[in-house]
Amino acid sequence: MKEIYISDEVRAPGDAYAFEDILAVLLSEDEEALRVIYDQADRMRSRHVGEGVHLRGLVEFSNNCSAVCSFCGINALNRGARRYRMTPDEIYGSAAFATGLGYRTIVLQSGEDALYGTDDICRIVERLRTRYGVAVTLSLGERTGPEYERLRGAGADRYLMRFETSDSALYSKLKPGSSLEKRLEHIRRIRDAGFQTGSGIMVGIPGQSVESIARDIMLFRQLDLDMVGSGPFVPHPDTGMGQGPAGSLSLVMKVTALTRIVLPGAHIPATTATGSIDPCGQEMALRVGANVLMPNMTPPGYREKYAIYPGKMCVKESPADSDRTARALISRIGRHVAEGYGHGRSYYLREKGKNG
Ligand code: 5AD
Repeated sequence: MKEIYISDEVRAPGDAYAFEDILAVLLSEDEEALRVIYDQADRMRSRHVGEGVHLRGLVEFSNNCSAVCSFCGINALNRGARRYRMTPDEIYGSAAFATGLGYRTIVLQSGEDALYGTDDICRIVERLRTRYGVAVTLSLGERTGPEYERLRGAGADRYLMRFETSDSALYSKLKPGSSLEKRLEHIRRIRDAGFQTGSGIMVGIPGQSVESIARDIMLFRQLDLDMVGSGPFVPHPDTGMGQGPAGSLSLVMKVTALTRIVLPGAHIPATTATGSIDPCGQEMALRVGANVLMPNMTPPGYREKYAIYPGKMCVKESPADSDRTARALISRIGRHVAEGYGHGRSYYLREKGKNG
């Protein structure tokens, strides 16, 4: 297999040449051929985003959710999920701990929790920025266009929203009553509000074709994402998709490498789900294109309740443990913790635009 070359003009649909190449990688079982692609991705990671690994402190502040996603353990219909909602002061406590460890980004993640209103989140964002001097990433699910704008106005820097799959029939099965089209519209609104925008997919969803994953990767590029996080699908027994195997580590590695190749400057995490299906998963991802880790800063007691899938790594750990594990991993592979905020590409493009 040869290295994949994607010309710079082609950030548009219908890039058939790239599609065929991407599909060939996804289908390949030839370790030597795949090595070429992994080495290419690792080299591109090194050239475009360097040897620094960005640490983002993840605070899972509420597992209340009004969405009915058939794959997710904290969906509204799962009566077995034990619900919690951290108070703003608890959130600041987690942020204070993370900043004490040197974190420059806090990721606020929750289910679609309407009781945490947009104004409440805005106040928390303002406080995090002024008091702790951190960049703030939000991962709150779907809100309205004006709400995204208010959150951005309050100073939130980034927003994460996976589209999960670009197969619209499969998407409707994952999220009954919703559509891929609507999801992509949300992602566009997030981008238009001025956020550095992150998305991603689950790999190995029952019924997901390899061709559709190739299209997912093409879509990462078309959306010109700042961040792309993908991980294996992991079946949760208390959901409609509780049956069947988890996504395979090898397919996740291919997706990670190809993501780096199509978006050389993106921030790509070695995701928690990847580390949860294999103890070496995150290390492997960092070696084939990933450059971000998101250590869990959620207090013990809450984090085990944020059970979007079973067997999640580090549920028994403390924030200090998660931080230590991440740093040990980074030095083990000869990299270092990146300094600075680690903003995405669109941030720098916007800054350049401002300064003429
Ligand atoms: N397996 C893997 N990933 C999951 N997510 C939710 N449920 C699961 C699961 N069962 C992922 C989704 C979502 C992100 C927050 O967590 O991709 O966007």
